[in-house]
Amino acid sequence: MKFNNRKVVLIGTGMVGMSYAYSMLNQGVCDELVLIDVDKKRAEGEAMDLNHGLAFAGSNMKIYAGEYADCADADVVAIAAGVAQKPGETRLDLLQRNAEVFRSIINPVTESGFNGIFLVATNPVDIMTRITCEISGFNPRRVLGTGTALDTARLRYLLGDYFGVDPRNMHAYVMGEHGDSEFVPWSQAMLATKPILDVCRDSGGKFTEDEMENISEEVRTAAYKIIDAKRATYYGIGMAMTRITRAILGDENSVLTVSAMLRGEYGQNRVYVGVPCVVNRNGVRRVLEMNLTEEEQKKLDASCDTLRESFDSLKM
Ligand code: 2OP
Repeated sequence: MKFNNRKVVLIGTGMVGMSYAYSMLNQGVCDELVLIDVDKKRAEGEAMDLNHGLAFAGSNMKIYAGEYADCADADVVAIAAGVAQKPGETRLDLLQRNAEVFRSIINPVTESGFNGIFLVATNPVDIMTRITCEISGFNPRRVLGTGTALDTARLRYLLGDYFGVDPRNMHAYVMGEHGDSEFVPWSQAMLATKPILDVCRDSGGKFTEDEMENISEEVRTAAYKIIDAKRATYYGIGMAMTRITRAILGDENSVLTVSAMLRGEYGQNRVYVGVPCVVNRNGVRRVLEMNLTEEEQKKLDASCDTLRESFDSLKM
């Protein structure tokens, strides 16, 4: 009998997928976690390894290596499969290769009868999420990507550090492509309920708008720096996936900057991009439309154009 059994299937047990699985276990976000990988043996090994930590996590989560048929009654299918960025590569460079990988994944998931929410983390995430939506034929509200959720966490961390305030009280977002054309709409950034630009202006030179630009640059280049230093990023994105999954399974209506399809919002159509969304059991309940300045709107438009062009360049 299925009794409030929160079931998640993870596809792709590389570093990103397993960082997600590890934090899902530590935070006890679901009751059943199924691992799927093209390398079945690897998935089995990962399941064993996690199961040996169950007692320490104080959890009775059911963790096992499974098959696509296991997606049938899953609440969330999280996808972290695909090739990763190498030093010097942009996220968009991965597109053609990962698009091919996704064909072999999405069809068997939908054929299982899966009727839950797709959460995509594979890069370039905005385009991979759109591909998932197109191949699955799902309502776009039930297909979301990690988008700029991690970038937003990076931004809040840096702002918290700069202003000496808990990052949870820094209400600011990174919007647009999870990649080079992302931007921070500073007009919408708040320290508690005070606009950050006012905090800078009122600070007598202690806090500056120039530093805000440095911080957004730092966020934009963070992944490159990490990849340069340790070849890959995975803990941050794994925890961002966990946060989004928690919002879905807990029916939280939390505002998160996920990759969602715009259908008229911000004057854009048929493009997946990182925007603040209300996330709950049904996926993206709605896209929040912020009051962007003209300049910020132009940045969002440019980011959407980049994503649209990349998607259109794809041979599917
Ligand atoms: C990140 O931003 C590489 O997209 C990955 O950490």
